Amino acid sequence: MNDASPPVDPYQGYRALRDDAPVCQLDAGGPWQISRHADVHQVLKDNETFSSEVSLRPPEERGQPTMLFSDPPLHHRLRKLVSSAFKPSHIERQADRITARAELLIQDLPRGEAVDLVTTLAAPLPVMVIAEMLGVEDGNLITFKNWSDAIFSNIGEILFGTPSAEAEQAALEMNGYFLEQIEAIRRSPQPHLLGRLVATKTDEGHLNNEELLSFCRLLLIAGNETTTGLITAAARIFHEFPETLSAIRHNPELIPTFIEEALRYYSPFSATVRRTTRAVTLGGVEIPKGELLIPLIASANRDERVFEEAATFQIDRNPNPHLALGFGIHFCLGAHLARLEGKIAVQCLADQFESIRLADPSQTAVGGLGGPKAMDVILT
Ligand code: HEM
Repeated sequence: MNDASPPVDPYQGYRALRDDAPVCQLDAGGPWQISRHADVHQVLKDNETFSSEVSLRPPEERGQPTMLFSDPPLHHRLRKLVSSAFKPSHIERQADRITARAELLIQDLPRGEAVDLVTTLAAPLPVMVIAEMLGVEDGNLITFKNWSDAIFSNIGEILFGTPSAEAEQAALEMNGYFLEQIEAIRRSPQPHLLGRLVATKTDEGHLNNEELLSFCRLLLIAGNETTTGLITAAARIFHEFPETLSAIRHNPELIPTFIEEALRYYSPFSATVRRTTRAVTLGGVEIPKGELLIPLIASANRDERVFEEAATFQIDRNPNPHLALGFGIHFCLGAHLARLEGKIAVQCLADQFESIRLADPSQTAVGGLGGPKAMDVILT
């Protein structure tokens, strides 16, 4: 890693916001930052007052809406089309294949020297899994990852401003690739998720190319960066609290609560966005209609008002009402998959290594949206 200056830890800033200005605009006219658990929870729960249709760009520029950035009834229609593929029973069936992939990625990692956990495990595992679900596992997974990075890191510009040339190019290439796949599936139907979507007939007929592309984009992007973030969060926790790795090695039943606590402690989807549909009072502060809000999920998950010793990692924390996977109608569609991938990655790491340390802790960012681009670790 060669960033010049150490990354900033946002958690101190979140605490100051929660204590002093839990609902506030950091710049006049800017978005409202929502930092307490109760307020973030209310925003995510009340989708009528807090809309996910946040973009003000004209529809022809925005392209086909995705479920993440739409409200009912469109949201429900889009979600229903893919939800069965993400049901726990369906996801569980992938466990052995995900484990085999994780073991393969981990088996040759060098011991005792710095190795980038992002390029070796945390990034490829989620790309492989979603590519297989979409039936495109023969495609170039590094290219998928690069497209997803380029679009994810420009999400603000895509929604609110002018997307960068890099994001436009990535979207163009990705659309071209998936259009070819869709055409091939129309000629020769397939049983995988994309094949089923192509075959799906709604009251309005088959999904058109734009609708299909928007599903591919959302699934590839929503599931990648965030799951990479969860796996790197786990590694960071093993570094900061080495006793957690030995606890898991001796008692693998702790893995589910470890994952929930990792989601809380270093929430990979650190913030989301909403727009008010009416004037509303939130946390005692009046917010006019049409304002943009940033519910700070990572801050809500460290709220001392809800979590005892919120700044401490408790491997068996229970209950753990974190909001890392969202809440309400937009609750993460891939939650079962994300948890399964996280559990398998942690289990494989714990099986193989007695110690996982960051090579240079000062150079590893936390609290961003998604995971770090690189994370050098020393495995022994
Ligand atoms: C650790 C990994 C993950 C985290 C932390 C995460 C987090 C979230 C959060 C917080 C939301 C709600 C956003 C909002 O309300 O504005 C969300 C929605 C979503 N997630 Fe995930 N996610 C993860 C993995 C995945 C995976 C693996 C997939 C699928 C392959 C996925 C697909 C989605 C989709 C499609 C939505 C939109 C749901 C809707 O609008 O109804 N996510 N995720």
